[in-house]
Amino acid sequence: MKPRIIIDCDPGHDDAIAIMMAARLTEVLGITTVSGNAPLDLTTDNALLLADLIGLEAEVHAGAEKPLLLPARHAAEAHGKTGLDGPVRPDVTRSATSFDAVRFIIETIRKNDDVWLVPIGPLTNIALAVQQAPDIVKRVAGVSIMGGSAGAGNVTPTAEFNVWADPHAAAIVFNAGFETLLMAGLNLTHQFGIDEATIASLREINNSVTLFAADLFEFYLASYQKRTRGQRVPLHDPCAVLAVTHPEIFTFESRTVHVETEGKHTTGMTVVDERGWGDQPLNCKVEYAIDRDRGMDIFLETMCSYTAK
Ligand code: RIB
Ligand code: CA
Repeated sequence: MKPRIIIDCDPGHDDAIAIMMAARLTEVLGITTVSGNAPLDLTTDNALLLADLIGLEAEVHAGAEKPLLLPARHAAEAHGKTGLDGPVRPDVTRSATSFDAVRFIIETIRKNDDVWLVPIGPLTNIALAVQQAPDIVKRVAGVSIMGGSAGAGNVTPTAEFNVWADPHAAAIVFNAGFETLLMAGLNLTHQFGIDEATIASLREINNSVTLFAADLFEFYLASYQKRTRGQRVPLHDPCAVLAVTHPEIFTFESRTVHVETEGKHTTGMTVVDERGWGDQPLNCKVEYAIDRDRGMDIFLETMCSYTAK
């Protein structure tokens, strides 16, 4: 049986790939959107556009248009003004089912057993849901986030974008007491990068979804290489989906993780206790390694599945 998930996202190039994979590898109960890579209206339009493109009927519910306490901050340098720059943009034919993602998250978890939350943007919606309905913490099958890092940051030397954008929300989620909280941080996602060869493979598969993904990657790779010396661009968000569908390709370690919300140089940092003798609860399963070849095979097999039969 496929895992049943709610994917909370801020599309975003890598969010787009995560949605394409989740649509085939999981049962998507719904998509919720949050301000992050782009403003909420754009991340919501992008989620609707992607659902249309891949024929995913799941509802899209718009959520928080700003973080809990901080002003909204975006990542146009990485994802462009629309949040999905690169491909020719198809018309958005659907509308969001609601503008209350938090209510959708709470009600869906209360009505269904074994729901996974897969947040791959700032954690604002998840934090609000936990604050309004603490009972959902014990009901979910687990939470698999893309966020944080057990190493260097990206937007600052210590902070990763999703946690940095709303550190107060992230602190609430990490302290909520989830029994299974999986963290795909930058230390992990930088092991799962795509390059020109991946783009060529997508063009070779040659279906409407892989051609759209290839155009996304052309932009994403170029923008990444302009800003870093990296040859491959990390496929961050799909790691959070794969950690649910294929946990066997990851190495997890149970750790105590706190989120810094006040440091002059460290706000948004996920402070991972690696000493091994801390006395705090081990609140998170941190991902330290991924079998990249196996992950890439699963990615390309999934993308092939969009070739019309
Ligand atoms: O730091 C990487 C994360 O920030 C990814 O989720 C990407 O989509 C952006 O939201
Ligand atoms: Ca994202």
